[in-house]
Amino acid sequence: MWNAAIADALVKLRQNIVKHPGVLPHIIEGQRYEWGENNDWIEGFYIGMMWLAYEYGQDPFYKESAEAYLANFKDRLERHVALDHHDIGFLYSLSAVAQWRVTGSSEAKEVALQAADVLLERWRPQIGIIQAWGLEDDPENGGRIIIDCLLNLPLLFWAYEQTQNQKYYDVAMRHALASQKFLVRGDGSSYHTFYFDRANGNAIRGGTHQGHEDGSTWTRGQAWGIYGFALAYRYTKHEPFLETSKRLAKYFIEHMPEDNVVYWDFDVPVEAGTPRDSSASAITACGLLELLEWIAEEDSSRQGFEEALGRTMRALVENYATTDIPEAEGLLKHGSYHVRGDRAPDDYMIWGDYFYLEALVRLEKGIKGYWYVK
Ligand code: GLY
Repeated sequence: MWNAAIADALVKLRQNIVKHPGVLPHIIEGQRYEWGENNDWIEGFYIGMMWLAYEYGQDPFYKESAEAYLANFKDRLERHVALDHHDIGFLYSLSAVAQWRVTGSSEAKEVALQAADVLLERWRPQIGIIQAWGLEDDPENGGRIIIDCLLNLPLLFWAYEQTQNQKYYDVAMRHALASQKFLVRGDGSSYHTFYFDRANGNAIRGGTHQGHEDGSTWTRGQAWGIYGFALAYRYTKHEPFLETSKRLAKYFIEHMPEDNVVYWDFDVPVEAGTPRDSSASAITACGLLELLEWIAEEDSSRQGFEEALGRTMRALVENYATTDIPEAEGLLKHGSYHVRGDRAPDDYMIWGDYFYLEALVRLEKGIKGYWYVK
């Protein structure tokens, strides 16, 4: 059912690989990517797409293309290029862990374990969190968490499973528990970020970075929460994580607009031209697929999640995919990066492309992406 959309995605991925050898996509405005070095938080998504493409059709072109980047990711780690942030999970789960998973490469495994160690350096034991951005004494970001980090935790859970070193598990578990307690609100909505006092670990307040305003619900943050808590449940089997993921999903679904692809924030006044974030809907589709794996057949919430998944994926394929633009570099139109900061409010987002492809190949062939091990 989804194979025509996948075929189009694979053609576009191949076009990008052939046209831009050795470089990686960056987000800019103008319905295209800027191709450059490995120095942001997003480069892993492109490599992850190559692994999904390879697993889907077994075409060695995609495997060889992905493998050719491992040295680049290894070098980045060794030189610590722009790695003072938590997105080491996004970068290395989809490159090194994916390569290890698909090929069994011991070199890739080694790189992934080193990446997990770099992520561990962001653990702040006096607060019990992984600091999202900047150095420990950063006046704004020291002691700050963001909901996106839930997708970085699978790298630590993976490292635990490989090494049996309890530290990886404990840090990931404690960060997930803190995220659940401080980022998720009673009505199932979420804060993008939360601040703690660096000196004594006291909770200060919720806030936002990319959302509309401090108390609003940034749709992509909500999506990271849905998928992130479902994955945390996969690794820990801690039942409240599953319940939290379900609550976040219900809130997301209840606030979906008529065309089934969300605006960039659930609390932003909607008027003509309000930007969407198709990437938030693609991430949520993956989160719902993960959730559905863990929800019992007789659970009354299943039907609503299945139905929302279908509506979301049909809307993305029919109204947001670039199938009508053969030369497009991106797969999904109308993603947004940082609307309030006026950065790429309506463009292609490489993570939107990745999660769109992940959802498609999971639906079509049961290929699950690279956030999990078992
Ligand atoms: N993790 C950064 C973002 O979602 O924009």
